[in-house]
Amino acid sequence: MAQLDVDRLERQIKSVYRDVAETPDEEFHFQMGRPLALNLGYDPDDLRYVPEAAIDSFAGVGYHFDLADIQPRQHVLDLGSGSGMDSFVAALHTTETGRVTGVDITTEQLENARKLAKEGLFHNVTFRRGYIEDLPFEDDSFDVVISNGVINLSADKDAVFAEANRVLRDGGRLAISDIISEEQMPESIKSDADLWAACIGGAMQIDRYTELVERAGFENVEVRENTQYEFISESAANACQKYGVKSISLGADRA
Ligand SMILES: C[S@@+](CC[C@H](N)C(=O)[O-])C[C@H]1O[C@@H](n2cnc3c(N)ncnc32)[C@H](O)[C@@H]1O
Repeated sequence: MAQLDVDRLERQIKSVYRDVAETPDEEFHFQMGRPLALNLGYDPDDLRYVPEAAIDSFAGVGYHFDLADIQPRQHVLDLGSGSGMDSFVAALHTTETGRVTGVDITTEQLENARKLAKEGLFHNVTFRRGYIEDLPFEDDSFDVVISNGVINLSADKDAVFAEANRVLRDGGRLAISDIISEEQMPESIKSDADLWAACIGGAMQIDRYTELVERAGFENVEVRENTQYEFISESAANACQKYGVKSISLGADRA
């Protein structure tokens, strides 16, 4: 049986998301930027205060700020923060009394996000290099964990949800958007690092996905489908049709 090469996957992820950070106008398997954000339901009023370059490199798959219910003074963690759009939106919700931390592994995304935070005077938003499977934070450090279009890329989703649970305080909130599948995908797709980096190969079957979330210690799990989200390349669209690959948003409470 073909095996996913995780080192190759990491190189591939870093290469794709370096391009997303540096040349967002290029063609990708997925939609990007302001039209995508508006289509997914982002509030145009929020986007007015977000640096334009962060919006240009936005590569999320859904909207979950209603599920996150971020309040002033809260501490928010953004898993796979990319060029920072969601972290900046979160900062508008926590106000300057709260704090937002983004974590990512791609140097060019981190560089973009840090530069934009500095230029936009987002003093309470910081970006850290780190793996979402092994977060560089103490237990109970955050009130809300958000993530957009990232967890499907991880080869160890168990670890991601366990880490999200560990760094959240009791009663903290998880609010994410991600790509899942209805059908179990064949090994030939699951072991293809290119399709994985394009947010398709790593899509987990939805029942198994919510089971992992609950097993990690979350309750009141709610899931909704983001029917507006579509992959644009032909190969991606075909895989989506065949295996029911789609975008969802999920909210849950730390038990
Ligand atoms: C599809 S992009 C989404 C970025 C951002 N959330 C957004 O909505 O624009 C995925 C991001 O996750 C990061 N990433 C992928 N795997 C990761 C991992 N294991 N740990 C940390 N970051 C990761 C990538 O570098 C990339 O910036």
